[in-house]
Amino acid sequence: MKQFEQSELLKSLPKQFFASLVSKVAKVIKEGHDVINLGQGNPDQPTPPHIVKALQDASENPNYHKYSPFRGQAFLKKAAAAFYEREYGVLLNPEKEVAILFGGKAGLVEIPQCLLNPGDTVLVPDPGYPDYWSGVELARAKMEAMPLKKENDFLPVYEEISEEVKQKAKLMFLNYPNNPTGAVATASFFEKTVEFARQYDTCIVHDFAYGAIGFDGQKPISFLQTPGAKEVGIEIYTLSKTYNMAGWRIGFAVGNESVIEAINLLQDHLFVSVFSGIQQAAAVALLESQNCVDELVERYESRRQVLIHGLREIGWDVEAPPGSFFAWLPVPKSYTSEEFSDLLLEKAHVVVAPGIGFGEYGEGYVRVGLLTDEDRLKEVVDRIAKLNLFKKYVDNSF
Ligand SMILES: Cc1ncc(COP(=O)(O)O)c(C=O)c1O
Repeated sequence: MKQFEQSELLKSLPKQFFASLVSKVAKVIKEGHDVINLGQGNPDQPTPPHIVKALQDASENPNYHKYSPFRGQAFLKKAAAAFYEREYGVLLNPEKEVAILFGGKAGLVEIPQCLLNPGDTVLVPDPGYPDYWSGVELARAKMEAMPLKKENDFLPVYEEISEEVKQKAKLMFLNYPNNPTGAVATASFFEKTVEFARQYDTCIVHDFAYGAIGFDGQKPISFLQTPGAKEVGIEIYTLSKTYNMAGWRIGFAVGNESVIEAINLLQDHLFVSVFSGIQQAAAVALLESQNCVDELVERYESRRQVLIHGLREIGWDVEAPPGSFFAWLPVPKSYTSEEFSDLLLEKAHVVVAPGIGFGEYGEGYVRVGLLTDEDRLKEVVDRIAKLNLFKKYVDNSF
């Protein structure tokens, strides 16, 4: 068969680092081993039944069998605005300050194409979620990394970015609670971010995918709660993690009116909006009881307790993440993150994501998802204990 050559644009896209991990995992499973996969970010629990029921009912509405309105259903935009007011005290104009997305990823990848010209500069967190890189490359823009270091609580330090880069930065991605480090943002960090954006005319895109997941009674803050945030940026919210709806592909962008208009305009050309039955179920998720969210956070918090406590007990000096459903664990000095995750896969049949896959500053860590039940997490600890990698360590105050 004739092989058509891919466009230069496709050929320039970043290579999927985790593809090689997926094939290594498949090999170990094929050998018949009981593999515990904590390497991915796919929520393991089902969507709450009242949301599923809302889709079942909505799917019978013949109006929804037609094309949806191009820019999404007004009722979902109103629900998103009501959600932001109820959860964060943030007021939004549903028609001008909300755009409906096919999941957060779609918005994150679209944004650089909405605002940038080839060669423009984008600041991205390192380590960070690799989909930011895809959007930047599709817009033929240029990335500058903002290192996230433990000593700075995994927040970028703007003073460390060169003046030249700051002057050029047209866009900045941020993400708290953070994938992969589990860090959360503070109000003062977001205030500094607004100041930065004003000074350098940079548009801020805050990816709030794990917005619902904060531990120890701390609710993660929205960037839009910061005075002036709406003038300088947007926030991307997804229902994937908050309501275990990753397969449904539904999210929204909120904030600066001109950026929302740019997203809507690009999407007018790319798609007709999401199936209205899904939009209706999403509105139900946002507006009805949030008990399911509280239960989910409790579930992740007790899994965190089991994993972190267990690993500390076997002598691995790890810290408990304050948010997200990931733990970011330092690898023993004699290994790279890739070597260490290969070791865990081969010898313990446990899959973790090597930090280097999230950027240069991810080296020295592995990311572990709290995405299986407590018994399996205990099993993970037992299997790692048998490798005798860590010296017994006494402080177990967590
Ligand atoms: C940091 C971050 N942002 C965005 C997303 C995208 O989520 P979705 O496209 O399902 O809304 C994910 C999913 O894993 C994520 O980890």
